Amino acid sequence: MTATIIAGTGSYVPDRVLTNADLERMVDTSDEWITARTGIRERRIAADDQATSDLAAAAARRALEAAGMAPEEVELVLVATATPDMFFPATACLVQTAIGATNAAAFDLSAACSGFIYGLNVADAYIRSGTYRNVLLIGAETMSRVTDWTDRSTCVLFGDGAGAVVLKAAPGDSRAGAPGILHSRIHSDGAAWDYICVPGGGSRLPPSNDLVEKRLQYLQMRGNETFKVAVRNMERAARAVLDAAGGIKPQDLALVVPHQANMRILNAVAERLELSEGQMFVNLQSYGNTSAASVPLALDEAVRGGRVHSGDLVLFLAFGSGLTWGAALLRWA
Ligand code: ACO
Repeated sequence: MTATIIAGTGSYVPDRVLTNADLERMVDTSDEWITARTGIRERRIAADDQATSDLAAAAARRALEAAGMAPEEVELVLVATATPDMFFPATACLVQTAIGATNAAAFDLSAACSGFIYGLNVADAYIRSGTYRNVLLIGAETMSRVTDWTDRSTCVLFGDGAGAVVLKAAPGDSRAGAPGILHSRIHSDGAAWDYICVPGGGSRLPPSNDLVEKRLQYLQMRGNETFKVAVRNMERAARAVLDAAGGIKPQDLALVVPHQANMRILNAVAERLELSEGQMFVNLQSYGNTSAASVPLALDEAVRGGRVHSGDLVLFLAFGSGLTWGAALLRWA
């Protein structure tokens, strides 16, 4: 039997901090509104010369160092992102060369805010099938590049950052008590594609002056509708993996690391799952919604802060554009 363990974590955020007070000077908003409606106090913004692959490579180097793995040992570089450096090549290829993972295959995975959970699911399938033993999974975003800084309903929400994990094959059966991923499930509903999207710049609406004038190169979101489905689907996804793992109860979890979208969404999910105070890890106050980066960024902070111990059951949860959502349950190595 082979299980997929997390052997190391790493993260990186750009130096520039954008506070709610800064946003008050840019659009008609207030620190009070943003804090009460979202829980976010500040977010990081990439420097002009930083692209998604730069953030991703910095997080990846830290994860490899934590795992004690040389870049040449990595067999697959997977980058989950909705804000790639370019249409092609894949951001994962740019990361591969930046970190010197010369023996790896590399590709991107597009599932917006759920990208990291999708990545865990894909990497786990590769590892358990014996295809790869060492996978570097990175969630990285420069959301600031697709944010309309004149739209107060979205610009207060997002931030830039990256998080990475080294996933390794380990002997043992994770479903019988050994460390590793016990279960992961991913879901999609393309009928609601327009809940959160960047409408322009792709093959449907290629770049043009008209598109730029209409600001269609920026993210658009139906916040209210998204909010409701996010809560419902994150709860459902959590219960599905816990049931699949043999009826583990939410109360048995040492830590829940959710996508950091909005404090009110996380409170509603925690309430529905009847989690106790502190069982859910939250750092959105410092980084906002960093899309695919948010779960591994939060995980790295939890790990380095001593919140995760050997044998702990950790649940990852996410929801995002697509629509996509999913959950993964892991026993920490
Ligand atoms: N400052 C002040 N007022 C604002 C702001 C702002 N930044 N933004 C909106 N408002 C106003 C609105 O205009 C509205 O005013 P009105 O009543 O006069 O029309 C009022 O505040 C309420 O607006 P709502 O949109 O109803 O506010 P809501 O409480 O729903 O909060 C929010 C909006 C924060 C966007 C919330 O709906 C949310 O978090 N939704 C989910 C977002 C999410 O999780 N996305 C998923 C992942 S993203 C991805 O995949 C890339």
